[in-house]
Amino acid sequence: MSQLELRAGLADVPVAESAISFIDGKRARLEYRGIAVETLARESCYEETAWLLLRGELPSQRELVEFDDQLRHHRRIKYKLRDLIKCLPETGHPMDALQASVAAMGMFYPSRDVASAQSNWESVIRLIAKLPTVVAAFHRLRYGDDAITPRDDLDHAANFYWMLFEREPSPAVRKVLDACLILHAEHTMNASTFSGRVTGSTLANPYTVVSSAIGTLTGPLHGGANEEVLDMLDEIGSIDNARAWLEDAVTNKKKIMGFGHRVYKVKDPRATVLQELAEHVFAEMSRPKTYELAVELERIAAGILGPKGIYPNVDFYSGIVYQALGIPRDLFTPVFAIARVAGWLAHWLEQLKNNRIFRPEQVYVGKHDVAYTPLEKRP
Ligand code: CMC
Repeated sequence: MSQLELRAGLADVPVAESAISFIDGKRARLEYRGIAVETLARESCYEETAWLLLRGELPSQRELVEFDDQLRHHRRIKYKLRDLIKCLPETGHPMDALQASVAAMGMFYPSRDVASAQSNWESVIRLIAKLPTVVAAFHRLRYGDDAITPRDDLDHAANFYWMLFEREPSPAVRKVLDACLILHAEHTMNASTFSGRVTGSTLANPYTVVSSAIGTLTGPLHGGANEEVLDMLDEIGSIDNARAWLEDAVTNKKKIMGFGHRVYKVKDPRATVLQELAEHVFAEMSRPKTYELAVELERIAAGILGPKGIYPNVDFYSGIVYQALGIPRDLFTPVFAIARVAGWLAHWLEQLKNNRIFRPEQVYVGKHDVAYTPLEKRP
């Protein structure tokens, strides 16, 4: 028997020291570099929040203008990359297209020297600037439409909306989309961030780092949950059916998508502020029926799952907001990735500062000293 104690899912096992974000799962507190995420969602913009995560402090006015200019300048993708995206199967999931495109993007910028702060910063700018362009391009091209050229007179969120729909968002829509990007930008040592740090610890290039993090984000237990929430709400169908559906799901030990979190044992603070901002969008249109259903499901679940510390996480409501904005369901997780790239890159830079390659242990449960049976003696 091995002496090593296995902690499934590395629960409660620290894997790095980090100064980027902080969660208090009992107080519903999430901070980016010490600032409450609700404050950032209400007061800041994605570009400023990305700088804060990457550099550790809010930018000065001049720094923000320069950073924003650089992001706007680097939005376009190489025409060869666009052609590559065009060749991807139109039935494929946009997250797979994004992962493949980001890995391929690195081939256009083959800087292997992660010891160069200048080169690393250029990669950071390119990745944050170009991810929305890749997602929008794949979405347009898969339906045979032309990709829409990014507009450098629009901010990060509004330009993404423009590249998807070829129209500008209303101020309320722009604000809620920007807030969604802020709320998804960083979240301590989650699976995709850890994955990015592991890849970064090998001194792999940043495009590979982000590509591996994107792959990890795809799963339904992580970023894929926002898509599954909508499927679940469709299955429930109506408010009248909510209680019976939930009781049946709990009896059959089904996971309720958009509920529960490894760290939060109360309602995710991001879900609360997202609902508040979403109300401004819903004031411009009728409140979506799925939203009414979700609110009722949350109310019923509070009595059933609440005592176990299982409450809505951010993705219980983010998909509903994206749907109200007209964003297709399979783009929900790519929107998450467009936001989270700032957090992944902040962690990558932090990892490089004091790097040691990740090489954990395992608890071996296999056999020993097994004799080799020659093929002719085997059945
Ligand atoms: N519905 C029903 N029961 C749940 C749920 C849920 N959504 N989440 C946890 N539980 C139960 C689980 O069945 C287990 O019960 P028991 O102890 O009786 O076996 C207990 O709570 C612990 O659950 P766990 O799955 O071992 O907890 P974890 O920390 O390993 O998983 C989680 C966390 C987020 C993967 C899980 O809560 C889950 O699968 N939620 C649904 C998927 C989801 O919404 N994911 C998005 C997470 S937030 C965005 C992001 O970070 O990507």
